[in-house]
Parts: sequence; C-alpha cells; structure tokens
Amino acid sequence: MSDKLFIFDTTLRDGEQVPGCQLNTVEKIEVAKALELLGVDILEAGFPVSSPGDFQSVVELSKAVRKPVICALTRSVEKDIDVAAEALKYAKRKRIHTGIGTSDLHIKYKFNSNREEIIERAISAVKYAKKYVEDVEFYAEDAGRTENEYLARVIEAVIKAGATVVNIPDTTGYCLPDEYGAKIRFLKENVKNIDKAIISTHCHNDLGMATANSVIGIINGARQVEVTINGIGERAGNTSLEEVVMIMRSRKHLGIETGINTRNIFKTSRLVSSLMNMPVQPNKSIVGRNAFAHSSGIHQDGVLKNRENYEIIDPVEVGIDESSIALTARSGRAALKHRLSILGYELSQEQLDEVYKKFLEVADKKKDIKDDDLEVLVGISSGNGRNRKRLKLERLQVLCGSSTIPVATVSLDYEGETLTKTSVGTGPVDASFNAVKELVHHKFKLEEYLVQAITKGSDDLGKVHVQIENRGKYYYGYSGNTDIVTASVEALIDALNRIV
Ligand code: KIV
Ligand code: ZN
Repeated sequence: MSDKLFIFDTTLRDGEQVPGCQLNTVEKIEVAKALELLGVDILEAGFPVSSPGDFQSVVELSKAVRKPVICALTRSVEKDIDVAAEALKYAKRKRIHTGIGTSDLHIKYKFNSNREEIIERAISAVKYAKKYVEDVEFYAEDAGRTENEYLARVIEAVIKAGATVVNIPDTTGYCLPDEYGAKIRFLKENVKNIDKAIISTHCHNDLGMATANSVIGIINGARQVEVTINGIGERAGNTSLEEVVMIMRSRKHLGIETGINTRNIFKTSRLVSSLMNMPVQPNKSIVGRNAFAHSSGIHQDGVLKNRENYEIIDPVEVGIDESSIALTARSGRAALKHRLSILGYELSQEQLDEVYKKFLEVADKKKDIKDDDLEVLVGISSGNGRNRKRLKLERLQVLCGSSTIPVATVSLDYEGETLTKTSVGTGPVDASFNAVKELVHHKFKLEEYLVQAITKGSDDLGKVHVQIENRGKYYYGYSGNTDIVTASVEALIDALNRIV
C-alpha cells in the first residue's frame, strides 16, 4: 500500500513574489482553476494582510475554487490572522498558515528576541488561528538553519497548541540533502506528539537542491510537500511540483502516491509561464522544451525503435502528445519521416529524399526546424488547416475624441472569408466590441476586462485580459499591443477562438 503525499501548491504565494511575475485577480483565478484540475490538495492563495490586492485575490479564489483546501499565509501576529480568516470567509475548506523564524539568526536579528519568547509567540499564534479554523499549519521559518533540538521543542509546542501540519522550511536553500533528511528524521523520532500532525517540506533552490531536499524529506517521513509550478519563486525558486510528482510516479519503490493528474502538467506549466512572463528554461526537467527532445541521429533512431532506450518517462504522461524530436541538421531521414507522418504526410521514398535534401539546406541555416517550416518544405503553405485560429483580426479602424461619437469598423477573417461591421459605443473599445458582437454568431457576455501597462511610458505595451461567458462557461483571452484598442479586440477574439 502506498502512502499519500499531499501536494501543497504555493505558486500563487511564494511563486508570485518574484519581481515582474505579479498576476491580477483574473489571472490568479485562471491559474487556480488549472491547479484545481491538476489535482493539488492545498492551494496557498496569498498573504492577505500584505496588500488589499492580495486580500481580494484570496477572497475571489476562495469563491472560484472548491476542491483544494484554500490556504492563507500570516505572520505570528493577531492582526494578520484576523485578516486571513476574513479573506478565507468563502472558502469551502480553509487553512491558516502561520509561523515565525526559529533560527538563532532570525531570533536575534529579525525579532531581537530569545528562544523562549519565540516559542510563546508560536503557541499564541497557533491558538489564535485555531479560534477561526480547525486546520492550522505552522511554519518554522529558516528551519533549515535551526538547531534540531530547539526545532523539536518548537514543533512539539505548536502541535500541542493545535497545529495540524508542521512546515519545516529550508528558507534560504542552505541544507544538503543528508542534513535536511536527518532533520525530518530527528523530528519524527524526537517530537513526542509528531503523530498528531503532518510534516511538510518547503525547500528553496538557492544551491540547486530544492527537489533533492524535498524528496529526502519525504523519504524520512514528510507527507506534505510545498511546491510551485516550474519551480518559480523568489531568488532561485522553490521546489518544482512537476519534478517531485514525476519522481514519485517513476520511482514506485518509494511507496508514495500523489493525486496529481499528470497529464495536465505540461499545459499548467505553459499557462503559468505565459501569464507570469517567466519563460521555462529549455532544459528544465519534465516541462522544458528539450526535456523529451532527442536531436542526435543515434538517439532519435533509438527512441523510434523503442522509446525506453532514451526516455524514463513517457511524455504522454505529462501531457505532451508526442516525443517532440527536435529536427536539426544532424537529424536523419527516419526522424524526418516520423515527424512528417505526425503532421499527416505519408511520402514515398523518392519524395522523402527530395524533401530531406531541402531540409538539410534549411537546417544548415536555421537551428531548429519547426512544423511550419516542414509544411513549406513539402510544398504546402503553412497554416493550411491544423491548429489555425478560426477568427483573426484583419483590420480595425476607430474614430474617437472629445467631440465625436466613438465609432469602430472591424474586419475579421473567418476561415478565409472577410466579415466587416461598423458600430458605435461609449468609447473606442466598446464600439469595437459591439462590432465584433455583431459579426460573430456566439452570444457572449463580457465578464471581465482589464488593461495594464507593463512599464510606465506612454509608448508601452498594454496587456489586456478579458473573460467572457457563453452558455454558462467562461473563456479567457489575452493580448498585448502598443495600441490598447487593438489589444482589446485581439484579446476578445482570443477568447472567442477558445469557444470555437
Ligand atoms: O521560505 C519560507 O520560509 C516561507 C515561509 C513563509 C513558509 O515561504
Ligand atoms: Zn518559501
């Protein structure tokens, strides 16, 4: 029988602290819904006392997401806990995550305090949070650098006060795997009431050991792991959800199971990366562009003969349809033939030789050959069918100003046909949206419309998010453009294409 490992996702709290990665509430809801589909057990939604925006996000996420436990972070401060409890008001299942620094460094320089006083503050915070919720998690910040005997005393005291989960963060990513594993084992063996709480790992990646430390923590008895999608997080980031989950899945002898729908991993990774403007490094484990790409001729041939020759995980398991064999100048005919057949082209030997010749000419100039390039190579213009967006903005013309009734003319390309309409509205965006509404046959209601500048200049790109409702379902659209009216119409069309 396998043990259940609880997946505590903190993409929207620890992950979102990365400069430049801040999301608005609409975006957070989109990520939270994706995390719910992914099957995370606990979703840390924010730190409500830190800003009105964070408070509101926790409120909205509590309403929008029903399956995972919604968790809110606090310091060991009553005001923080009051605000967190208020923000969690609508959550179906809720948890308050409170804590305090326990290393001598934190005790002295952050709190100007002493060990005994810190234990008292930790106990009070847990008891105070317990007034609001049953499920209280306690974090011993900088536990990685906290002396084990003292840490055990803190943990025993907070469990006695009612903590249901005890989080042992390696806040600075300092521990070596054997130290972190020994720390968890020490707590398991020396905290009298440890069986009354779940031990959680929370590892940072400053020395590149976040995943290794989390795994060794699990091996030594932790049954909750705190993670983020793509390992995003402050500085070098947090432990990657996808890495821990796929380790547990591919190394069955560890006897650990998660409730994650692994087939949603890849698309969740891409969603987080694009909304947070945080590219995934190509060689990132599990979700990097090259994670399942085989470019040398020998490897490509081996994978085609039997995937397991060079792959320990079937890419389909993480939601990648095909092992994407990167085609480069070193690729052989077999790889080209295979990729073309995925694209739907079955070529004779003679045709294949011809295409292969052209392919090598292009591959000498271009590092990666994309599917679009291949379509051109076989004499088919790209975009002829597959995955094409059915609606495209062809032209937009608006007239507006202080003494003009705003009017917009929108031309859309719908499967090769140009459709045009002119409409008026309260402003240029409203007029354009009215024209689009008249052009498409879907009845939709605009639920959210948000424009944001990325930096501060008037020449900046405007990011636009829209959410529309159609037959009880919600669709999200996004675009960016220096012309915010154009970006708005593009975002609306993006959402409409999702209905199609
Ligand atoms: O890294 C850390 O210590 C944290 C705590 C606030 C849980 O993120
Ligand atoms: Zn952290």
